[in-house]
Amino acid sequence: MLDVEKIRQDFPMLNGTTMHGKPLIYFDNGATTLKPQCVIDAVCDYLTNYSGNAHRGDYDLSHDVDTRFEHTRDLVAKLINCDRKEVVYTYGSTDSLNLVAFGYGALHLQKDDEVLLTVAEHASNTLPWFEVCQQTGSVINYIDLDNEGRLTIENVKKAITDKTKIISIAQVTNVLGYDGPIKEICKLAHDRGIIVCVDGAQSVPHQSVDVKDLDVDFLAFSGHKMCGPTGVGILYGKYDLLQETSPTRLGGGSNSRYNSCGSVKLKNAPTKFEAGTPNIEGVIGLGAAIEYLMQIGMDNIHEQELKLRAYAIKKMQELDNLEIYNPNGQGAIAFNIKGVFSQDAASLFNTYGIAVRAGQHCAKILDEFLNVSQTLRVSFYFYNTFDEIDQFIEVCKKGDDFLYAFFG
Ligand code: ALA
Repeated sequence: MLDVEKIRQDFPMLNGTTMHGKPLIYFDNGATTLKPQCVIDAVCDYLTNYSGNAHRGDYDLSHDVDTRFEHTRDLVAKLINCDRKEVVYTYGSTDSLNLVAFGYGALHLQKDDEVLLTVAEHASNTLPWFEVCQQTGSVINYIDLDNEGRLTIENVKKAITDKTKIISIAQVTNVLGYDGPIKEICKLAHDRGIIVCVDGAQSVPHQSVDVKDLDVDFLAFSGHKMCGPTGVGILYGKYDLLQETSPTRLGGGSNSRYNSCGSVKLKNAPTKFEAGTPNIEGVIGLGAAIEYLMQIGMDNIHEQELKLRAYAIKKMQELDNLEIYNPNGQGAIAFNIKGVFSQDAASLFNTYGIAVRAGQHCAKILDEFLNVSQTLRVSFYFYNTFDEIDQFIEVCKKGDDFLYAFFG
């Protein structure tokens, strides 16, 4: 059982008020999470006390930077159970997925090969594959979702053909919030020589993810959705696959030598992917975030969030003015207040200090499945409370009398 009241004291933004003079009720954790003081301090400490470059200097300051910068790699390796040389620093999940698509996919896909996605994917796990398939003459196919929007092993089996080379799917989708059967999919895929790339943006921050147990080939996630800074993310890849992946950016730090004739010798993974001065404060802040989360315990975090979700769903289902699209998911809750445009509803919540997301949530082909163009989305993190959900429910009740609620 988490001591949520104590945890909340770690987050400065949970201890102030919004511009409407209300305490912030932050239910948009799928978009980004709030930052605990230890992360803020770690970033400030770097910027204030040892703000040198990484991997470039031969002085004490540089050594300090390198030590802390590389320490985050060890923490990531511990968090997801891999080797540190399989951890690539990127600028976020989008950057990681682009690296897989353009660095691995573009090299290995041939004409008429097939890449499998679902319509529930975020744009970052769709658009890079569209482009790579266009360049290589390969084809995107979609794994059908079941009638609730879940990814099932049966439908993956149906979608696989002799031409399938890559499956790229979210572990937990960002709107419907279902947790896919990743381990079973990897087994099925690997028996047929298919590579599995997993978008972990909405899973790694919320639950234990063990890449060895799941046997995923690639896993992408972002720092800012797990209490870390923006602009930093991770690509995990099995080492042999990373070695077979080309960097999509070249520059200082990634090569061991080159000459004026254009002959270039790249360093091994992960260094070959990390050209240029990285987001050092981001990486250090991410390290502090991972230490913080591991101290709380990923299983405790997951358990708390499932309780919050179950409570919210129960309360929401008691109201007859809500349309809920994924009552049985594990992550975000997608819903609408009947008869109210989602962005209007989000503005209403905002006046009560409640932050929710409205629109398509960067999953713009999901409406082909949902048959609704826009939804509201609430997404919890372990620092949210049952009391906040009660306050949210009171505003939901006002929603169908929208104008009255706003101006009455
Ligand atoms: N990918 C983030 C979300 O789902 C921004 O809201």
